[in-house]
Amino acid sequence: MSTRAPSDALVVFGITGDLAYKKLFPALHDLVQRGKLDVPVIGVAHSPSSREQLVERARASVREHGAMDEAAFTRLAGLLQYVQGDYREPDTFARLHEALGPSRRPLHILAIAPSMFPTVVEHLARSGCSAEARVFVEKPFGRDLASARSLNATLLREFPETSIFRVDHYLGKEAVQNLVYFRFANSFLEPIWNRHYIENVQVTMAESFGVEGRGKFYEETGIIRDVIQNHLLQVISYLAMEPPASASSDSTRDEQAKVLRTVRPLSPDQVVLGQFKGYRSEAGVAPQSQVPTYAAMELRIDSWRWEGVPFFVRAGKALAASVVEVMVELRHPPNVVFDEARPHDANHVRFRLSPKLEIAIGARAKRPGDQMVGNDLELSVVEAPAPGRMDAYERLIGDAMDGEQALFARQDLVEAAWAIVDPVLSAGIPVATYAPGSWGPAEADAMVAGVGGWRTPGGAAASAAP
Ligand code: BG6
Repeated sequence: MSTRAPSDALVVFGITGDLAYKKLFPALHDLVQRGKLDVPVIGVAHSPSSREQLVERARASVREHGAMDEAAFTRLAGLLQYVQGDYREPDTFARLHEALGPSRRPLHILAIAPSMFPTVVEHLARSGCSAEARVFVEKPFGRDLASARSLNATLLREFPETSIFRVDHYLGKEAVQNLVYFRFANSFLEPIWNRHYIENVQVTMAESFGVEGRGKFYEETGIIRDVIQNHLLQVISYLAMEPPASASSDSTRDEQAKVLRTVRPLSPDQVVLGQFKGYRSEAGVAPQSQVPTYAAMELRIDSWRWEGVPFFVRAGKALAASVVEVMVELRHPPNVVFDEARPHDANHVRFRLSPKLEIAIGARAKRPGDQMVGNDLELSVVEAPAPGRMDAYERLIGDAMDGEQALFARQDLVEAAWAIVDPVLSAGIPVATYAPGSWGPAEADAMVAGVGGWRTPGGAAASAAP
């Protein structure tokens, strides 16, 4: 629910960084195009750049990652200002204060290294830039459970909870919201959505690209903090949670937190880590780096609904395709009526979350002929890209400017997710090397041997660009 007046300025820390280039500029462009952004946009960064160079970078970003509308872009360029400075220097914030002019309710977007969050937040407060402001904090929120709690305490010293927006852009994605919608808007799933009918669940988040100039960030982060503690555990929570009491954001977040608290904290023998060959030659990466760019894990949920059902999760950079998919494998029916050797891939519900939203039901059907033998088939619906569809960041920035918190992570959820991965973050798990363009280290195969292997996403759409 919106609690206050809309933000009257947007401040982006890290405006010259990768997130701004890939996601934020295109989102700001789309917000302007939709008539939802007409307040000053102040970029802050350390790089010696100028306003003109920033506008050129924004233009290149929208051309590469968005859909350029010249008129909207001209309006966005007119809103952009640049404040150059070191985040540790009070002077940077004095200049930001000046640039904000009469704006009293800025939304501060922290698109910077997580280790800088506390410094920036404290300077915002001391310079008088936080009084009525909102803060949009990029993931990962903390480095582990203890630092997440301490970051939260720092934020709460300067901002009320209603002004803190903990970003996990997966929550703003259509395909992820659809998981909740599809589960609870249909009656046929509920009776089978439990340990009696589901044999295992697999979630794959594969990216065909490496760390793309983000070596320094990756060294601080690694794959578990980058995408598993947040994006994939959000997905797991939507798949596994109990029905919320209503569609209100707090009901849903209550159920997510509840189910995450029943996920057993990982132990090192449930995790395989990998690093793609070539990662150590990336700029900003230590020559002997042990930071994982791939992880596979087996999660167990200690609940009435899920006891005994393994949830396998894997994510990696420089893999064979860019695709995000959930495969829910159903138990096989008794093999007594039709005496066929049952292939592993019939009987499932599959959600493709990226690059295109797809929902498929895998089943067996009779093959034409005089024998009662069958084939696997899939009943599948692929969503056509809808005109006017909102990108996750456009939706999230718009919501945060309006003070709407439904699509942001709550602290109890963030903490429950850290509690799951915390025991394996620095457990000294060996990091296997894998070839770029593969599906990750072979060591991860043993984990799923008992359920017939990884259900590797296939199809032309899987290899398309993300
Ligand atoms: C980001 C991660 O949060 O999510 C990146 O930092 C990852 O490493 C990205 O590539 C994936 O998101 P999307 O929306 O591009 O699929």
